[in-house]
Amino acid sequence: MGRQRRGVSLARLLFRRGRRILPAAAAVSIVFAAEQPIEFPHNKHAALNLECVDCHSRADVGDAATIPGIGKCMLCHEKIATERPEVRKLAAFAAAGREPPWVRIYRFNRAGHVLFRHASHVRAGIRCAVCHGDMAAAVTAQPLVKHTMGTCLNCHREQGASEDCAACHN
Ligand code: HEC
Ligand code: HEC
Ligand code: HEC
Ligand code: HEC
Ligand code: HEC
Repeated sequence: MGRQRRGVSLARLLFRRGRRILPAAAAVSIVFAAEQPIEFPHNKHAALNLECVDCHSRADVGDAATIPGIGKCMLCHEKIATERPEVRKLAAFAAAGREPPWVRIYRFNRAGHVLFRHASHVRAGIRCAVCHGDMAAAVTAQPLVKHTMGTCLNCHREQGASEDCAACHN
């Protein structure tokens, strides 16, 4: 227990980005989770008071939110929960110098040439949960919210954002 606390504060010191995104309940439907190389439980990590941007560290500054590299996981998991089977798999990837081949959940068909920028949305104050559902309560990453051209445009109309084809398609 003491160890876990020390691990958590170590990670916080190293990559804390400040608190700003508070996940809240959103419309949720039953969907399939992808088979991942390691079962990563979002809920258990959110319970440690980690913010979404502590791990998805480009979400407020870049186009892609980004998935954290294994080095970030190992800041804690060199010491924490090392006996758990899924953490052993994680340690094996780290020992081999490999990133876990995470399967992407949200992704547009390349043929559509859609350009989505996280930073403009996050900076406009739209919470992660509006577009991803309550990930803080999710056991596995699932596409809790469906994004289509229609859902993008609905919000853009409501909030007076661009409806130009060229804004979203490059
Ligand atoms: C306005 C809607 C919207 C908001 C707000 C939003 N996202 Fe996303 N997110 C998306 C869409 C759409 C995709 C898929 C983008 C693509 O495939 O190009 C995505 C993809 C992702 C991915 C996949 C990997 C990557 O690098 O993009 C992660 C992780 C993610 N979002 C996390 C977050 C987090 C954390 C927040 C809050 C800080 C957030 N998102 C806020 C819509 C949103
Ligand atoms: C701030 C420290 C911290 C970081 C960073 C962290 N974890 Fe964890 N992780 C924990 C703690 C603490 C637990 C035990 C939580 C519990 O059982 O309630 C845990 C549990 C787990 C488990 C085991 C779940 C189970 O019950 O079997 C897996 C798998 C895991 N983490 C993967 C990851 C991955 C992958 C990353 C990097 C993306 C990561 N963790 C980053 C602290 C961390
Ligand atoms: C400890 C690090 C960590 C924290 C904290 C974390 N995530 Fe993640 N997230 C991951 C990892 C690792 C993956 C890839 C594995 C997976 O999809 O299950 C992921 C995947 C995702 C995805 C799916 C991206 C895609 O398209 O494949 C979304 C969306 C997401 N996270 C949103 C969030 C939100 C919102 C929060 C805050 C409530 C959050 N995450 C907190 C590590 C984290
Ligand atoms: C919940 C509301 C909401 C949703 C959903 C949403 N947007 Fe936006 N979007 C906004 C707002 C608000 C802005 C204006 C931000 C600003 O001007 O600072 C914006 C701006 C943009 C911009 C211009 C910003 C830039 O930096 O170029 C693009 C491109 C964009 N959105 C694409 C998308 C796409 C693609 C989707 C669907 C996957 C989407 N948006 C979904 C609210 C939303
Ligand atoms: C606010 C963002 C946004 C705007 C503005 C927008 N689109 Fe889209 N569009 C999308 C997204 C996101 C998709 C991908 C939907 C999916 O994969 O389900 C898409 C898909 C498409 C597709 C289908 C591509 C394919 O084959 O997968 C076409 C064609 C298209 N858009 C044309 C247009 C035209 C023409 C305009 C201007 C009148 C326009 N779009 C304006 C976001 C936008």
